Amino acid sequence: MTQNIYDDPAFFTAYSGLRRSLEGLDGAPEWPAMRALLPQIEGARVLDLGCGFGWFSRWAREAGAAQVTGVDVSANMLARARADTADQAIVFQQADLETYAPPSASFDLIYSSLALHYVSDLAGLISRIAAGLVAGGRLVVSVEHPIYTAPWRPGWTTNEDGGRTWPIDRYNLEGPRITDWLAPGVVKYHRMLGTWLNRLIAAGLRVDHVEDWGPTDALLDARPDLASERDRPMFLIIAASLR
Ligand SMILES: C[S@@+](CC[C@H](N)C(=O)[O-])C[C@H]1O[C@@H](n2cnc3c(N)ncnc32)[C@H](O)[C@@H]1O
Repeated sequence: MTQNIYDDPAFFTAYSGLRRSLEGLDGAPEWPAMRALLPQIEGARVLDLGCGFGWFSRWAREAGAAQVTGVDVSANMLARARADTADQAIVFQQADLETYAPPSASFDLIYSSLALHYVSDLAGLISRIAAGLVAGGRLVVSVEHPIYTAPWRPGWTTNEDGGRTWPIDRYNLEGPRITDWLAPGVVKYHRMLGTWLNRLIAAGLRVDHVEDWGPTDALLDARPDLASERDRPMFLIIAASLR
């Protein structure tokens, strides 16, 4: 059973005010890197895990997907996703990824943006994801980067020279991390990089691409607020395929 923090009123209000909540994919700086990993969308059957407000689900249909299923545990997130969507080929479903099992061999693309680090039973979910892909189907996923999730009390420190450092402790201690992000007591799960990759490999997936996301020069010109992302990666992006 997940914490479902997105149904906490204070958290939901704060999350709704973030740039990526207001601007959608255009407000998500890692979106171009995710988009570059997508297979052919035309005619694809797509599953969007932790779909949130449904921005990617709608994009996939506009890009030609045959059908899209968006899954999320949060009634708040799904209410807005449904309100913002007028497309019979997109179905939003409330389910907890701790137990959700997609129908077997049903999806050409399973996509998940910044949701899987909320899941405790990663091995179970990854094996259910693998079973939901058709042969040759692709998984494209972003999660909070292990360097970002590892510290017990995450935060920058200021160096003597005025620079900043992101101290890392407990990297090898996997499990829950409780942080005050938008609301007190938010539970996410830290895993080492090897664990993210080995879970996919153990489920029979071929890892095609691994990216420690960081902003390009052009993006930094437009978004100088992202400069700290060059000092420590915040997002890990992985693409994998069912052989
Ligand atoms: C950071 S938001 C990302 C939303 C969307 N994918 C995006 O990139 O805009 C994380 C989403 O994952 C959902 N989520 C978290 N834990 C979940 C779980 N156990 N089962 C299903 N959804 C979950 C949240 O409700 C939230 O909508």
